[in-house]
Amino acid sequence: MKELREERFFREFCDTADNMYRLGWDERNGGNISMLLTREEEGCFGAPIRTIPIPFDASALAGRCFLVTGTGKYFKNVKKYPEENLGAFRIAKDGKNAELLWGYSDGGKFTSELPAHLMSHIARLSVDSAQRVVIHCHPTHTLAMNYVHELDEKKISHTLWQMSTECIVVFPEGVGVLPWMLCGTNEIGIATAEKMKKFRLVIWGMHGIYGAGDTLDEAFGLIETVEKAAQIYMLTAHLPRINTIKDEELARLAEAFGVNYRKEFLDL
Ligand code: 13P
Ligand code: ZN
Repeated sequence: MKELREERFFREFCDTADNMYRLGWDERNGGNISMLLTREEEGCFGAPIRTIPIPFDASALAGRCFLVTGTGKYFKNVKKYPEENLGAFRIAKDGKNAELLWGYSDGGKFTSELPAHLMSHIARLSVDSAQRVVIHCHPTHTLAMNYVHELDEKKISHTLWQMSTECIVVFPEGVGVLPWMLCGTNEIGIATAEKMKKFRLVIWGMHGIYGAGDTLDEAFGLIETVEKAAQIYMLTAHLPRINTIKDEELARLAEAFGVNYRKEFLDL
C-alpha cells in the first residue's frame, strides 16, 4: 500500500485546505472540510483507535467513513501536520459515535460544525448520490457583501449572477441564504441541510459559506466563483453602475450552456 501522503485523494484534501488558507478564507481555525470516502479510500486507514460521541443521530450514514478537519485546528498547518489536524472516522452502527481510524493525534476531535457537515451530506446524497464533499469557510468578500446587501436568496443570487458571466452557468440553482444563527449547533445543521436539498451553496449570514460537490475541486470551485463575484460587487457597489448583464442575457447564457437555472430568481 502507498503511503497515505502519496494517495491522490489525501493530497488533494491537504492542498484544498492549503489553498483556502492562502486565499484568506480560513483565518486561525476558521472553516472546515468533510469528505465522504470511497470504499477504496477507506482501506488506507487502519482499525478503530478510539470512539468520539456525535451530538445527533447520524445513523443515516452508519458504516460510512469521512475525512474531516479537526476542531480548533489552523488550516495553515493542515498540509504540514495532517495527522494532528485531520481525522478519518467511521460512523458507528448506532449513528451516535465516530470510530476514529486515523488522525486527531493530539487527542482532538472533529470540527464543531460536524452537525452541519453530516446533515448536509445526508441532504446532498438524497438528491445526488455522487456528492461527497462539504466545505465551509469565511471568504472575505462574500462576508463583506453580507453587511451591505440584503440577505435575501433571490436578491443575492441575482446580484452574484450579474457580477460575472460565468456565475449562472456555475451555480444555476442560485445560492441559499440563512440569517445569522448560532454556529456549531444541531439547529444550524438542520437549517443548512434543508437548504442543501435545493442548493449546493448556502450562505450563513455574517459568518461564511458552505459549498457541496462531487469532488473537492467542485465544492472549492463553487465557493471560489461566488467569492470572485462578491469581490467584483464590493469593488463596484459604491460606484455608479453604467453597465449590467440584463436578465434576458442571463437567461440566454443559461439556455446556451444547457443549465437548469432557477427561473424565479430572474425578472423576465
Ligand atoms: P472548528 O474549528 O470547530 O472547525 O470551527 C471553525 C468554524 O469555522 C466555525 O464555524
Ligand atoms: Zn465558520
